[in-house]
Amino acid sequence: MRTTTARAYPNIALIKYWGKRDESRILPAAGSLSVTLDAFETTTTVVPNPAGDADSLELDGQPADEEQTRRTTAFLDHVRSLAGSEQPVIVRSRNSVPTGAGLASSASGFAALATAAAAAFELDLDTRALSRLARLGSGSACRSVVPRVAVWHAGDDQASYAEPVDAPDMRMVVVTVDRGRKPVSSRAAMRLTAATSPFYDAWVSSTEDSLAAMIDACRDGDFTRIGEITESHALRMHALIQSTTPPIRFLRPQSVAIFDAVEKLRENGLEAYSTADAGPNVIVLVRPENAEAVAAALDGLGELRIVGPGPGAHPLPEGSEVPAATEGIS
Ligand code: PMV
Repeated sequence: MRTTTARAYPNIALIKYWGKRDESRILPAAGSLSVTLDAFETTTTVVPNPAGDADSLELDGQPADEEQTRRTTAFLDHVRSLAGSEQPVIVRSRNSVPTGAGLASSASGFAALATAAAAAFELDLDTRALSRLARLGSGSACRSVVPRVAVWHAGDDQASYAEPVDAPDMRMVVVTVDRGRKPVSSRAAMRLTAATSPFYDAWVSSTEDSLAAMIDACRDGDFTRIGEITESHALRMHALIQSTTPPIRFLRPQSVAIFDAVEKLRENGLEAYSTADAGPNVIVLVRPENAEAVAAALDGLGELRIVGPGPGAHPLPEGSEVPAATEGIS
């Protein structure tokens, strides 16, 4: 075993993953498609700990809470079982944005951890196998293993991984309206949706249709079609989530105001389309040449950041370790 460090970026889904058909293997009810970003990265170091009797996790320089540590150990158990090892490790992870702020930090987090841990345990995994492994940490993490645009296939354990899709160049204007932790985790909200929404079956079947149409639009380089499907699919997901018992609403009045502003931009001839994950922040999909103009038009509606397609999860060279919280204090 050796100490290794890896970096991964979050992804924003244009076709959303919302609902599992198998909780323990994290198999999605339907396929999804996303853009891996070039910003908001997570860097993670895995250090073998032969003297320890359990894994330990430091997040952004602080010891992680019990739930985060439990989830990380459960994930590392998959890695250990592939490697035929029982070795505990120390994990040090650093996010460039606050954890749980709705910018998919679980995707970048588990993609970076899967990449670093696979290398630390000297597993020789290709991108497909690494994507399947990352999926066991957090579903959407399997897409962050892949650069740029990725489709995550539904299917059984072997067949459920992400792979690249040809797509035109695009940018996203991230409009952050709230940096706080979301009140309900995606995992809990998904479970409630499958258990209580009367619309769940229709969501699953219509998502498969939307995904097929999206893949065609990507391959045709048809930005308008990509945008139209993205916005309508996001609104369907939020409608679905609001149909649970008890209802969950992730969008805030400010989020809706941004959807309205983007619609206005389109009416005025500036093409832009909105989407939002399980939180109040809105991501606006634009053509590269329109990114600055759209960001300028949305000025005042939230904290703005233009992002583009980025790299898949990758190991970093030796010497890039995330420092220990106590380092230098001795
Ligand atoms: O992988 P999770 O459990 O963080 O779920 C992600 C859910 C959404 O971000 C709302 C949709 C998606 O496909 O990323």
